[in-house]
Amino acid sequence: METPPDELEFVRLMRTRSHAEGGVFRTHTGDLGVFEPEAAQKINALNYGDLTLPDKLADLLRGRTSDPVSWREVRAAWLPQMRRLSDAESVAKLAARMGDLLEARLDRPLDLVWMAQEVCTQALIPVVVAGLSAAETARIVRDQHLKLARLLSIEPLRETFWEELRAIWIQVGAGSAVRRELRGRAKGRRPRQADLTDPIVDLLPSLGLDRAIDAVTAVLTAIAGPPGAAAACMLYELSRRPDWAERLTTELESIPVEELYGAATRVAPVTHRFVKETLRMWSPPLFLTRSARTDLQLEQASLKTGERYFVSPYLIHHDPKHWKDPDTFDPDRWLATAPHGPCSGAAYVPFGWAPTTCIGAGLGTTQLILLCHFMCTRYRIQVLEPEAVRMMLAAVALPVNFRGTLTRR
Ligand code: HEM
Repeated sequence: METPPDELEFVRLMRTRSHAEGGVFRTHTGDLGVFEPEAAQKINALNYGDLTLPDKLADLLRGRTSDPVSWREVRAAWLPQMRRLSDAESVAKLAARMGDLLEARLDRPLDLVWMAQEVCTQALIPVVVAGLSAAETARIVRDQHLKLARLLSIEPLRETFWEELRAIWIQVGAGSAVRRELRGRAKGRRPRQADLTDPIVDLLPSLGLDRAIDAVTAVLTAIAGPPGAAAACMLYELSRRPDWAERLTTELESIPVEELYGAATRVAPVTHRFVKETLRMWSPPLFLTRSARTDLQLEQASLKTGERYFVSPYLIHHDPKHWKDPDTFDPDRWLATAPHGPCSGAAYVPFGWAPTTCIGAGLGTTQLILLCHFMCTRYRIQVLEPEAVRMMLAAVALPVNFRGTLTRR
């Protein structure tokens, strides 16, 4: 029997009610909880099927409504670029950046959650926007840091007026770095790059600069949280499961790291199962809060425009209707022959739902496998007080008291 995590009251309540009430119900706040896989899939499709990028600022300033640009169009521009960014050459560069970030953290006391966050998030920045100067990168990193501090605080942060002002200042600084890069590339002053900003440069005539900045910023926000949160949970599982650490080490020691670049999930099946199970067990973020963009009709309930609803990969992944022993961490449930599985695809949604499903699912999974490779073959984590570490459910699942050092093997 696993030690249960500390659960935020809200998570506990949603989980109990979801099991009792079939997954779709009005919460005590009047919002709709949609924790049943098909209903979650349906509500996301209904709500975001015709999503467009509003040009709020320019419209406000010019007193007009600009032509809508479909979010699908933006995603369609990103997806082929995302495939290029997942090829062997690009993944080798990602691994090199992760290696450098880990090296810089050797042999000193570390908060291992922050280490996981910083290594994953900072290594991903050039995937989103490459070619920035050191000062511009530092602005993006400061903004990411702030977003992470908010995400990782167990209690809501009580920020003073000055702290809020500073946060806005930092956000504006990050936005201006993106603005300069977009403008520079569009005018030919800066080189085009293999990153997710580049397809947006081609869309500038229809998007305009403000919406283009919003699109790039949306990806910078998307990488500041889930990848690092998943990595922290994976290191937590790795540190408390010597049997699995040994299985992963045996597998990964036999694979030259270059082989992981092109096809990590295929060449390292044991590690891939470990990563998949981490994403099932601790899927970040625990809840996605959405606002109905139009009146929405499900079989079980309806929503008026502007009303809120919640979806949660985490609750779906822990529902005994869809999973055997859902609170047990067992990577072998992913074997086709496992007594626990296999499970139906609709109940495994760590990357969300169409049409807004995560564009970085493949690269995010590869990054976690690379991190396992580093931890099992090159470095070792020594947890300071292993008995004090416990899992806390907050905005994301969070190993608390997870401190220690990173040393070379
Ligand atoms: C293990 C790592 C990751 C996890 C667990 C994760 C999880 C998620 C989740 C749950 C969503 C919300 C999907 C929905 O609305 O239904 C999302 C959206 C998104 N993610 Fe990820 N993500 C990861 C890595 C990445 C990476 C590496 C990138 C890009 C380099 C990325 C870019 C995005 C973007 C742009 C969206 C918004 C998609 C849209 O609204 O159309 N993610 N991610």
